[in-house]
Amino acid sequence: RKTRTKKSAGHDREWTMKGKWAAAALLALAAVNAAQAQTYPSRQVTVIVPFAAGGPADISGRIAADIFQRHLGQQFVVENVGGAGGTTGSLRAARATADGTTLVMGHMGTHAAAPALYPNLGYDPEKDFEPIGLIAVQPELLAVRKDFPASNLKEFVAYAKANESKLNMGHAGVGSVSYVGCLLLNSAIGIKPTLVPFTGTAPVMNAILAGNVDYDCDPVLGPLPHVRAGTAKALAIAHKKRSPMLPDVPTSYEQGLPQFDCAPFYAMFAPKGTPQPIVDKLAEALNKGLEEEAVQKRLYDLGAEIAEPNQRGPKALGELVRSEVARLTPILKAASAK
Ligand code: MLT
Repeated sequence: RKTRTKKSAGHDREWTMKGKWAAAALLALAAVNAAQAQTYPSRQVTVIVPFAAGGPADISGRIAADIFQRHLGQQFVVENVGGAGGTTGSLRAARATADGTTLVMGHMGTHAAAPALYPNLGYDPEKDFEPIGLIAVQPELLAVRKDFPASNLKEFVAYAKANESKLNMGHAGVGSVSYVGCLLLNSAIGIKPTLVPFTGTAPVMNAILAGNVDYDCDPVLGPLPHVRAGTAKALAIAHKKRSPMLPDVPTSYEQGLPQFDCAPFYAMFAPKGTPQPIVDKLAEALNKGLEEEAVQKRLYDLGAEIAEPNQRGPKALGELVRSEVARLTPILKAASAK
């Protein structure tokens, strides 16, 4: 039978004390977190939008900021930090102090596609953020300049193949959803146009209107007013169903190119380590805001789809990020290699 030595009994006492201190520290931290959440937000919050003003990310980020502001009684100020397909602003958010004063509008590009396209991304969408909630899903469409010599997907494919060397495609940077959507389109058709990067699809749209760029792949809300005004054309919705905002534009599925399927999520995230009670408070506010009739109408009129409440909270968004990273990584690697 083993006898306990004085030394091992001493160690046990030391470990018991360490355990008690750790438990006390955790309790103290929980108390600080709870207190912080009660007074949160006690100062202005920055909402980083990692793309240019006026585009789908900016508009989604501003809708969320407005909801937070109205529900939580504090200023939520949008800061546009464009560059590198949204990864510059996302990295800044990942490294910000995790106290609820910095949030980021992330989407299928920055928070699911980027790991497949950047070997040294600098952040991990799954590990470096606290998901807050999904704002909307925004199906893309193929938009072309108004005098582009094609009026449907079949004609686009024929023209693009015959004129590949002079074809220009605008996008919001490698990893952006406009890049991802058109990567799927181009690789399915087998073309490599000249890629023209911008800090967002709002400036891409201006270049299309000016006739400097031939086409882009953009969530419906970007090209919508220009398509309606006849200053740009929409050739295909990259989704299984047509957009109620542009009911005459057939889908890529209807036109025989189902590989061109891109309906990115737009969502809110906080840096990893943001206290849970703060995350919960933000998630609840966002959820309530998305139930408001005026917010729902605004998103609907922009061609966006709002998910059911059980599919848009922190847990559901975390799962969506995980499943989208897993789904997109092989697809994007194969498409990039083509
Ligand atoms: C934007 O807001 O400019 C777009 O959502 C960017 C993108 O293509 O990802």
